[in-house]
Parts: sequence; C-alpha cells; structure tokens
Amino acid sequence: MDCFTRRAGALHAEQVPVADIAARFGTPCFVYSRAAIEGRYRAYEQALAGRPGMVCYAVKANSNLAVLDVLARRGAGFDIVSGGELARVLAAGGDPGRVIFSGLGKREAEIRQALGAGIHCFNVESEAELARIASVARGMQRRVAVAVRVNPNVDAGTHPYISTGLKENKFGIPIAEALAVCRRAAGMDGIRLLGLACHIGSQLTSTGPYLAAVDGLLQMLGELTAAGIPLEHLNIGGGLGVSYQDERPPSPQDLIGAVAERLAAAGGECKPAGSRPNGRPRPNKSLRLIMEPGRSIAGPAGIFVTRVEYLKGDGDRRFAIVDGAMNDLLRPALYSAWQNIVPVLERGDSPERGDSPERTDSPEPIAAVYDVVGPVCESADFLGKGRHLCIAPGDLLAVCTAGAYGFTMSSNYNSRPRAAEVMVDGTHAHLVRPRETVTELFASEFRLP
Ligand code: LLP
Repeated sequence: MDCFTRRAGALHAEQVPVADIAARFGTPCFVYSRAAIEGRYRAYEQALAGRPGMVCYAVKANSNLAVLDVLARRGAGFDIVSGGELARVLAAGGDPGRVIFSGLGKREAEIRQALGAGIHCFNVESEAELARIASVARGMQRRVAVAVRVNPNVDAGTHPYISTGLKENKFGIPIAEALAVCRRAAGMDGIRLLGLACHIGSQLTSTGPYLAAVDGLLQMLGELTAAGIPLEHLNIGGGLGVSYQDERPPSPQDLIGAVAERLAAAGGECKPAGSRPNGRPRPNKSLRLIMEPGRSIAGPAGIFVTRVEYLKGDGDRRFAIVDGAMNDLLRPALYSAWQNIVPVLERGDSPERGDSPERTDSPEPIAAVYDVVGPVCESADFLGKGRHLCIAPGDLLAVCTAGAYGFTMSSNYNSRPRAAEVMVDGTHAHLVRPRETVTELFASEFRLP
C-alpha cells in the first residue's frame, strides 16, 4: 500500500516523480496519494468484515475537499468537530446521515446546522451540552440522536497533548458520572440515546488502552441494558497510530479483531451490577461498532515537499534552511514530533555536480548532520533535527507521513501564504488547493477610516 516509492533514486507519488510536481506547482507543497487514502480506508472496511458498523473518517486530520471526496465516494462516514467541517463534508458530497459530530464546545448555531443537515448523531461531552442539544431539538420540533462520550480515565500512553482519555483531560463525561447522565438522557424530551463513545487519544501504538476503555464502556452498556435502556452502538473513537520512525502500531484488523472479541465475550458474559444470575441482561447482539480514524488513513498518504534555500554552519551545528516552516507543518514544533526527512532525488555515494538536470547549477552537495529549519522567526521552527543528509541548496526534501495534521494545522504566521496541495491519482497530479497569494492574506482586512 506504500504509494510513495523510489525509482532510480527519484521519489515518486504513485506514478508521478515528486520532482516534477515541485517543478509544476512550486514548493512548499503537500502531495497526497489517492490510492493510499483509499487503501487505508479499505483496511478499516475489510477489518469490520461484515460486522455492523461505520468508519467515520476524522475530518480534522486532513479536510481538503479532494480527500473528503475520495472517501465519500467509497461510502465513508465522517467525524466532525465544527460547523465548518460539516460544510466541507457536504461540499465534498459526503452523506450527512453518516456524520458524527464530536467535540466539547458545540455552539447553538452549529447544533442547528447539523440538525438541519440530518447528521447521524452527536457525541455529547457534558450535561450542559446535552441540555443545549435537547433544547435546540425541541425548538426545531425534532428528536436528536446522541451518544454519550465517556472519559474512561485510561492512559493512552501517547504525547500528553494528544492524550484525551484521562480524568485530567477536558474531554468526555467522567466514567463515574456517565451512567447517571445516560439515564437522564434516555428520559429527556427531544433526545434519543443511541450509544456510548470514547476517544482516548491519538497515535496509539498498542491495543491495550483501547481494550481497557472498551471494558469500561461494556460494563456501562450492560448496566444500561439492565435498566431497560438498550443501546445501538459503541464508538471507540480514532487514535490508531502510524509509523513515523520505528513505531509498530496495530493494524485496523488487529484493533477491530481485539475489540470484536471483547464485544463477543460481553454478549455472553456481561454482568451488570445487581443483575440476577439467570436473568443476565446482554448488550444488544447486533451492536454497531463505530470508529473515527484520522491519522491512520491520511497520515501515510501524504508527504510535505520543501526546497533547500541555504546551508549554514559548520562541523558543530549545521542548518539546512528550507522554504517550508512551522506554519506549514506544526507537529515538530508543537509536539517535538519526529518525521522522516528524505531527499526527493537521491545523490549517489560520490555525488557529482550536475548528476541530474534539476541540479545543473547546484553547488557541491555536503554530506553532514543537519537541523532542517524554516525561515520563521522562532527557534521552535524546525522540521527535523540531527538529520544525516547529503544536500546542496536547491535540493528538494520530502517530510514523510505528513498527510494528517499537516495542512489542517497550518497557519499564515509571518504572513506566509499556505502551501499548495496536490493529489496524485495514478499518472496524474491534480492541484487540489493552489498556494495562497500574499494579496489573499489581507484581502479581507481594513485600514481605519
Ligand atoms: N475522534 C476524536 C473525537 C478526536 O478528537 C480525534 C483526534 C480523532 C477522532 C482522530 O484521531 P486520529 O485517528 O487522527 O488519531 N494534532 C495532533 C493530533 C490531534 C488529534 C485530535 N483528535 C497531531 O498532529 O498529532
């Protein structure tokens, strides 16, 4: 499924040389592979293996309309966290009936917009939000489907900024209170309680934390069933990791297989507190399994391409100053994230001047250890530190696994236009978002009268 391969030293996206894309659309740019996105989505679909469920791609990972379109055409659901993301899904042809609205701060207008669009379900993160959703629904004379997002107090074992399932995290309703909230929700006018949800964090590299969370949710499901409140779905969130360096995350198959085993076991053995031994309530046998993967679909399906502007420094500290920066790819600055950086055109062991048409005028490359940094005025502005590279000014570099949380977290800091986005489909490279222009940056600003 790796759609970024090297042929005769030249990095390709599917059938297209990445150097050609850079020459045509300029740098910095994001390059996505349609086949990779489809293949990674398909892995989830196949792992469900006919079990009732829904794969709702987390739009925040990469919300370019072309990405959403490719997924919508395959029948994907979508996990959104704002009215803006909902508008994108609809513009891309996504089915609102397969949309789940997550996030802990939904505004009234967003709730109205989502109800109007006919989304599948809201994930509710507090009692106050539940009350607001119910009141909007009643005002629109509608009944609204909700799932309660539970905070199971489980350590996802990931970076603290992207861990969401611990009680000190702002997300979800603490598991100790969630049962009571579910009971109240089930009796509320305007509300239809559909399921339980959790999302314990991102870039998870083992199934253990998922299973710990699922155990908590299954216990709750059993107790709700016993109370005469059977639910339809269990949403285990997103969070499956990818390999940036040497991580070996489970596959969708591993994860869904392990969760399905737990569900099957609970179907036969779930013992809610206080139930009669021979009258065990069981969670709904045809419980739907919902997932909200983002990174594991889009991450490895994209690279970030940047050009070396200058080399500077000496033996102690060398810098490769490139035209991409923290405003384009924030992950290294924000999480000290490590992403592989490779040359787009590999130089041989004994590099020579003019070894490719790209480099006829290039100065001699220097093999050394570099900090790869951008032009932004922050010392946190780096794409990678301590990287062994053999490069010269003018060379192209690719930051790997940049399809998720790359462009969507980019900004105009330092008044830098955001990068172009390109999607490759076989032998074709399509511009799916042109590079912003400087005039666009302040076109909607005003001077004082
Ligand atoms: N569902 C919910 C409710 C979420 O909050 C998230 C991600 C996902 C699903 C998708 O998680 P994924 O499968 O992509 O791990 N900017 C960070 C990641 C933040 C994730 C936020 N929530 C990064 O670059 O690592």
